[in-house]
Amino acid sequence: MHFSGWEKIGFGMLIAAWVAFGSNMIGNALVDAEKLEKSAYQVVAADDTEKTDAKAESAVADDTLTLLASADAGKGEKVFKKCKACHTTEEGGKSKVGPNLWDVVGRAKGSVGGFKFSAAMTDKGGDWSYQDLDGFLASPKGFVSGTKMSFAGIKKASDRAALILFLRSLSASPKALP
Ligand code: HEC
Repeated sequence: MHFSGWEKIGFGMLIAAWVAFGSNMIGNALVDAEKLEKSAYQVVAADDTEKTDAKAESAVADDTLTLLASADAGKGEKVFKKCKACHTTEEGGKSKVGPNLWDVVGRAKGSVGGFKFSAAMTDKGGDWSYQDLDGFLASPKGFVSGTKMSFAGIKKASDRAALILFLRSLSASPKALP
């Protein structure tokens, strides 16, 4: 087949027009897909947060306490490495940045003699029940807003259970499990 110069230019323009038109369509399709993906994602994200919130709450309320039954105090002692810089564990041990933790389970909050607790801690009141320890260790500032314990918290319920079981062992007569 033989095309004249003008014919070639004509074909060329036609193809160029098609390419431009085609890419425009694809472009629009992509933008639409992106919009769709975004709104779909937002719906999912909203659902997820609700779920995680509910989960976090129940984790503090039941999971850790249930997990205590099967937790391992040895593992808890390892988790306690995160606390050692500030807390001693032996009977009559001195307070460091934080108070000594001997016999902490069941003890009145903020009651270690000679340690200067924050007002937030002494105002909180009550004893260190398993549940309160769980809430505090999950999020110190969330549980005692204004506490001077600078620690982010332990997110995993199983780690908290192990840790609390270890804290329970720091006693001549460990408190009954919940
Ligand atoms: C950076 C230092 C620091 C670290 C790390 C730390 N704590 Fe504390 N802790 C404190 C301080 C300070 C207080 C006193 C808080 C107050 O008065 O508000 C405290 C208070 C406590 C109390 C309350 C004691 C009482 O007699 O009322 C418990 C229980 C406790 N910490 C456990 C832990 C555990 C378990 C860990 C490790 C997961 C840990 N802490 C990590 C500094 C620390």
